[in-house]
Amino acid sequence: MKIPVGVLGATGIVGQQYVQRLINHPFFELSFLAASPESVGKTYAQAVEGRWHGHDACPKAIGALLVHGVDDIAIALRECRLVFSAVSADVAKIYEERYAEAGLAVMSNASYHRGTPDVPVLIPEVNADHLQMIRIQQKNRGWQRGFIVVKPNCSLQSYMIPLFPLHRQFHMKRLIVNTLQAVSGAGFPGVSSLTISDNVVPFIAGEEEKSEDEPLKILGVIQGEGIEHAKSPMIAAHCHRVPVIDGHLASVSVEFEKKPTREEILQIWSTFSCPYALPSSPDQLIVYRQESDRPQPRLDRMAGRGMAITVGRLRCCPVFDFRFTALSHNTIRGAAGGGILNAELLVSENFL
Ligand SMILES: NC(=O)c1ccc[n+]([C@@H]2O[C@H](COP(=O)([O-])OP(=O)(O)OC[C@H]3O[C@@H](n4cnc5c(N)ncnc54)[C@H](OP(=O)(O)O)[C@@H]3O)[C@@H](O)[C@H]2O)c1
Repeated sequence: MKIPVGVLGATGIVGQQYVQRLINHPFFELSFLAASPESVGKTYAQAVEGRWHGHDACPKAIGALLVHGVDDIAIALRECRLVFSAVSADVAKIYEERYAEAGLAVMSNASYHRGTPDVPVLIPEVNADHLQMIRIQQKNRGWQRGFIVVKPNCSLQSYMIPLFPLHRQFHMKRLIVNTLQAVSGAGFPGVSSLTISDNVVPFIAGEEEKSEDEPLKILGVIQGEGIEHAKSPMIAAHCHRVPVIDGHLASVSVEFEKKPTREEILQIWSTFSCPYALPSSPDQLIVYRQESDRPQPRLDRMAGRGMAITVGRLRCCPVFDFRFTALSHNTIRGAAGGGILNAELLVSENFL
């Protein structure tokens, strides 16, 4: 028996990625789709006509499903056990708690609950222990079956996954990260073509704050009724929008308390893997490229079916200890693929 699931914001960039990745998923069956009032009452195929982003055509069986409103919570409750939320933060603010209160598990891509102390911000390879927060959250809120988990900002995976196993062993003190983020990260239609063509925009609203705060929550510990942020590393982020369709690149400089060698870092990356056997886990989690000009978004974003992190250019840093470049696919590892990986973890740990 597969677990029936729904997607809120199913017609958007991330929602469409969920739809494609949930077809033939071994654990989940897609049975509920919701979007804005403009899409409600249309079939999914009608709602995404002219803005379907998949390489293959919209799957026929899904195209025939009717799109509901996000306020159709009673229908969602009848149709599914978990919803993947791919709506904006202001819509998430209104609805995600209502879904959880009604008894549904919510796996959110929106930023709204990332700062909520009793909501875990999950990356299965990094902080699966924060799943314990779900029981505390249910107790805090008086929810019986429902709960909310979120995944972090779409650029974070590219550097937090390589940095985590190093942090565990050598303890990061200071971190500077400079992100070059693809246009699909802004949704559809997103940034106007006149703004982004032949250009780089050195500002993405709220992104630097999220990049400096979320890693500390992910590295934090459960304390009483919430998650206490880690005290270190000290982080400075610079976030840019660049004319790339998919794939967020990050240049990282990092300082450690204990000093690793380059060989130790490469050895740790080559063996670091997800501690759970989950269907969406890539065979090789961190792909290290030896070439001096990699990773590159166009060449490397689909590594591990979009779920691997590609790293390159590991070298000494004259200011901190080491610097490197990392890349992940923002709408797969950084959004729908990462969300499904979280849901697979929920299944494997008996939370659904
Ligand atoms: N794009 C990325 O790489 C990425 C990565 C990680 C996280 N995220 C987060 O994921 C969420 C979705 O991003 P996206 O890029 O997919 O955005 P998007 O392409 O703009 O899609 C937004 C979705 O929300 C729906 N929606 C809009 N207004 C609504 C309303 N009032 N009530 C209900 N549904 C409404 C839209 O439905 P209609 O089509 O009917 O308008 C559409 O399905 C955001 O919170 C974003 O921050 C995005």
